[in-house]
Parts: sequence; structure tokens; C-alpha cells
Amino acid sequence: MTKPKSPGSNQSPDRLKAGHRTVGEARIAQLVALARKASKEAYCPYSNFPVGAAVLADSDKIYSGCNVENASFGLTICAERNAIFHARCDGMKRILAVVVYTPTDIPSAPCGACRQVINEFGEDARIICICDSPAKIDLKLSELLPNAFGPGNLG
Ligand code: THU
Repeated sequence: MTKPKSPGSNQSPDRLKAGHRTVGEARIAQLVALARKASKEAYCPYSNFPVGAAVLADSDKIYSGCNVENASFGLTICAERNAIFHARCDGMKRILAVVVYTPTDIPSAPCGACRQVINEFGEDARIICICDSPAKIDLKLSELLPNAFGPGNLG
């Protein structure tokens, strides 16, 4: 039987280069403002549930995104993945933090698909979910998606 990999081995190749970095509160405030702004561009005529996301890359650049729905419902893309794919098109290597905003009374954590996509680039990323009340979620991706399947599993 093959030796099981160590718990930290579920990592993309750029993980070791980037390391885990603490994100300052000033940067978080900028992410919050951009996630709120992005939610205003959401295209969500079917759910009426606008979502805005902002992603901080290890380059220190911020990328934002909103959910974009489709009459063929399954083609809907979440705000988080929209922001991440846009970021990758601009050369993003690692994700340090993601802020998700919903104009609701309770915060919404990223869906399972978005957690998996965040894991690809930021298994230690800080995930902050905010809303229109003081309630918030502030966790590491590894807490939202423990024992994730990731690049390291493919050898
Ligand atoms: N949505 C997101 O944008 N992010 C999530 O993590 C969960 C759900 C969107 C998809 C859809 O447009 C609407 O919220 C309702 O599910």
C-alpha cells in the first residue's frame, strides 16, 4: 500500500512559494467595499439573490465578481468563481483572502463548488462573509472544506 500523504500535501505547486500570509485589516476593508460594489452588478432575475465577491491575490491585486444567472439555470456562475476566473486570466497565482457580500440579515458562506475552486489556489485563504447586519463568518478555507481533494492528490 502506498504511504498516505501528509495532511499538508494537498497543495498546488505555487503554494510553497507563496506561503501563508496575514492580510491586514486595511486591505480587508478594501475587499469589503469592492464586494459590496460588485453585488450591485449582479444579474440575478431568477433568484433575486445578488452576491458580490472580492479576491485578494498574492500579487496584492484585488479582483471582484458578481453572480450571473441564465435562463438555462444550470449555467449560472457564482460571484466567487467569476472573480477567481477573472483573477486567473490576469495571472493570479495564489488567493490570500475572499470576501463575500450578500444584502441579507445573515451572511452566506461560499457554496461547495466555490469552496473547491478556492481550494485550488488558496487552501489557507481567509474567507470573510458579510451582510447587512453585524453578523459575519470569518474562517479559513480549510475550515470550510476540510480534507479537501486538491492538486496534491493527483501526484
Ligand atoms: N451564489 C453565489 O454567487 N455564490 C455562492 O456561493 C452561492 C450562490 C449565487 C448563485 C445564484 O445566482 C444565487 O446566488 C442563488 O443561488
